[in-house]
Amino acid sequence: MPRRLTGFTPSGDLHLGNYIGAIRPILAGQDETDTVVFVSDLHALTLDHDPDDVRRRTLEFATALLAAGADPDGCLFFVQSHVPEVLELHYLLECATGYGEAHRMIQFKEKSKRQEQVRMSLLTYPVLMAADILLYDTDEVPVGEDQRQHVELARDVASRFNARYGPTFTLPRAVNPPVAARIMDLTAPDAKMSKSTSAAGGALRLLDEPDVLRRKVLRAVTDAQREVTYDPENRPGVSNLLAILAACTGGDPARLARDFGGNGELKQAVADAVVATLTPVRERYLELARDPAHVRSVLRAGAARARKLAGEKVQEAREAIGLLAG
Ligand code: ADP
Ligand code: TRP
Repeated sequence: MPRRLTGFTPSGDLHLGNYIGAIRPILAGQDETDTVVFVSDLHALTLDHDPDDVRRRTLEFATALLAAGADPDGCLFFVQSHVPEVLELHYLLECATGYGEAHRMIQFKEKSKRQEQVRMSLLTYPVLMAADILLYDTDEVPVGEDQRQHVELARDVASRFNARYGPTFTLPRAVNPPVAARIMDLTAPDAKMSKSTSAAGGALRLLDEPDVLRRKVLRAVTDAQREVTYDPENRPGVSNLLAILAACTGGDPARLARDFGGNGELKQAVADAVVATLTPVRERYLELARDPAHVRSVLRAGAARARKLAGEKVQEAREAIGLLAG
């Protein structure tokens, strides 16, 4: 059984795009694949952050993933920093990564441009991501385009480490999440819906109240044409609504377009579909959030299981790279 792994960084609020593009696909596969899902809290420290915010969001993300259906008995489910072995592997992998290699990462270039003070950890972030991946002998990493380069770096570092110090790591590969629609921002449909950049009205948050979801959909930017057609290039707003409807109901956006006489009718249907998709997750979230001690005990159990695997892998890497056993 291939092992598949993904992390969710607790910055910003989870939204429908994350749910459709990442959460739902990885959880849908958790019975057939060996699945590892974690909240990557260490990655949230690479940009300016508020400590209380990161702590609160880490628990919120974990609770939301459980609410979305993560089965802690079926998959390995934990908080990244609860498995400190990852930090040790991070250092060992830094010793097999070139400065130029890290410096070339597109995401580093883009994110560092926007910062006044660039943290060292922003540069080494892909190496930590490599440690996340290699620690658990991951075969497949389902990621969007923007993270593909990081998975390739993990693969390069693993193969270099293996060649120099002996076979230690499984070589991971990036896989496309199954035909995930790229959900666009409701108020600026030429940009993707994003937890870091979308304005309040532009993102449908996983935990928004039904009324709020409805209002956001009804206020979504469309255009003045009367009929409904699927044409992402020329009609991004209407096409995005059709893509959302398709993702929520399982239909095809171009075919769904024929069911509607106008934008108003389409918006009503999208609002209903979004509410029907997210409300069960929200309700389960509210139920779980009433007992944070339970969620934390689930996370502790997950970390204990993860640490067993991680400890063995780090030990192998220590020996291979030349550290004297203590
Ligand atoms: P964000 O841009 O909201 O910060 P991330 O870059 O952290 O999101 O992405 C987390 C996961 O969610 C990735 O696997 C990504 O492919 C998926 N994802 C993010 N935004 C969208 C979107 N608008 N539509 C579909 N999938 C998305
Ligand atoms: N960097 C990813 C993000 O911000 C999250 C992440 C951390 C991750 N470690 C990972 C994803 C390992 C895949 C594999 O979205």
